[in-house]
Amino acid sequence: MARRLPHGGQVLTCDISDKWPAIAQEYWTKAGVAARIDVRIGNAADTLAGLLAEGRADTFDFAFVDADKGNYRRYYELSLELVRPGGLIVLDNTLFFGRVIDPEAQDPDTSAIRELNLFLRDDHRVEISLLPMADGITLARKKST
Ligand SMILES: C[S@@+](CC[C@H](N)C(=O)[O-])C[C@H]1O[C@@H](n2cnc3c(N)ncnc32)[C@H](O)[C@@H]1O
Repeated sequence: MARRLPHGGQVLTCDISDKWPAIAQEYWTKAGVAARIDVRIGNAADTLAGLLAEGRADTFDFAFVDADKGNYRRYYELSLELVRPGGLIVLDNTLFFGRVIDPEAQDPDTSAIRELNLFLRDDHRVEISLLPMADGITLARKKST
């Protein structure tokens, strides 16, 4: 993502742990894009709420959600406020290894993704497409009001 940014563009990435970002940092540096990546360590819901408190609603072009499944709905709502009208939210793992259509799969993560999929289907604030590739990738484009 960072390599494809237009001049002046920035990636802001959230993680609760610095374990993976610390590894990634080496590769961002090798790719020459480290200066374009702003890492925020902490619970992503807090980080995103902090961005809203800083007045950054409607300022992001794109959000990619790929963290703890139980909080996907919160990340979606916060991202929806942060992206501009016409901006895109992408949610990974929305088929959850096929478990979303298995009635016997009632664990909290599967249930959270299943409920989110139903919610997104009827959410008139966005246009959606669930791509049946990899583990399921949902594209949600924020409508202009
Ligand atoms: C599947 S990995 C993401 C991988 C990354 N998108 C990539 O493609 O390399 C999930 C990440 O979510 C992070 N995570 C889990 N709970 C979180 C939370 N509450 N807030 C922020 N990050 C969280 C984990 O530390 C982990 O790095």
